[in-house]
Amino acid sequence: MKTVVITGGTDGIGRSLAYTYLERGDRVVIIGRSADKARTIIDTAARLDAADRLEFLRADLALTTENHRVLERLRTTYPAVDILVLGARYYRSTRSVTAEGFEASFALFYLSRHLLTYGLADSLERAATPMILDLSGPGGELSRIRWDDLQFTESYDPDAVMHQCGKLSDLLAVGFTDDHPHSHIRYLLLHPGLTSTGFTGEYSTTDRTVVEDMRRRGQPVEAAVARIMRRLDNPPAPRLSAYMQENAVDTTSAAFDLGAARRLRDHTRELLATAGPANGRSNTGPIDSPGSAADRPV
Ligand SMILES: NC(=O)c1ccc[n+]([C@@H]2O[C@H](COP(=O)([O-])OP(=O)(O)OC[C@H]3O[C@@H](n4cnc5c(N)ncnc54)[C@H](OP(=O)(O)O)[C@@H]3O)[C@@H](O)[C@H]2O)c1
Repeated sequence: MKTVVITGGTDGIGRSLAYTYLERGDRVVIIGRSADKARTIIDTAARLDAADRLEFLRADLALTTENHRVLERLRTTYPAVDILVLGARYYRSTRSVTAEGFEASFALFYLSRHLLTYGLADSLERAATPMILDLSGPGGELSRIRWDDLQFTESYDPDAVMHQCGKLSDLLAVGFTDDHPHSHIRYLLLHPGLTSTGFTGEYSTTDRTVVEDMRRRGQPVEAAVARIMRRLDNPPAPRLSAYMQENAVDTTSAAFDLGAARRLRDHTRELLATAGPANGRSNTGPIDSPGSAADRPV
């Protein structure tokens, strides 16, 4: 039985991946903020006689404190993690800053992914064929990164933010692979193609029209999940691989520059060293503890 941890597991592609693994008899941990969304999945798990194989961790992953709380829960509950799916997303037409002072998309798309990959590395290492799957990349050229203003304090542009987030995910993967030279964890960056999902976010009127059109044009979630499962079930040989839908992306190209990855990693460590209350490691957060009874499957 595999243990599969899915951020963004309460909606869209993440939710459908959760159902897939539950139906296969695996153990699934879904992470998101919405208890209502999770309830639907918990009810489905009960119908599949899989309630004891599902855990919902309610957490706002835009907060470093919440990531640390989730990590603590995962590390103390599951000796090994086979698959970590990084699928939390949230679109913001206007700039927002978290209670810890980070631009919200940077915090959710990038800082959370950094904390979870590094924080779960030992748990993944204990699995037979561990995989990290990040659905937000691969994100194109390095020029998408605004090095002098990573958190878009000037001229906020939501689409540029999302593009940058994809690129930061690429560099996170390069940096993680570089930092774990003897690891047997496979790191997979996969863009499943435009998919009709929840597209969670806070949209301006104009952006809402665009996203409604994307929802109409997107492939069904099942098609995206079939594409993803083909890769997860047949892990690519290289430790780091990337795909735009079915097409392999060259992870040795300049777009995956190791120097840039190290620069980002070092900058991230500096940021996290000064993050939030007690360096982002406080055990008190604004929402329910992930391990509390209210969040557990029934
Ligand atoms: N849909 C596409 O066309 C498409 C294309 C390429 C790549 N992708 C990638 O695929 C992944 C899944 O996308 P999707 O379209 O399926 O997403 P979605 O339907 O919009 O769902 C987003 C998920 O993220 C969670 N989330 C949002 N903010 C969060 C926060 N602050 N803390 C914790 N969880 C949070 C949501 O849970 P709650 O609401 O419970 O918080 C939800 O489960 C993303 O990484 C996305 O970038 C999607």
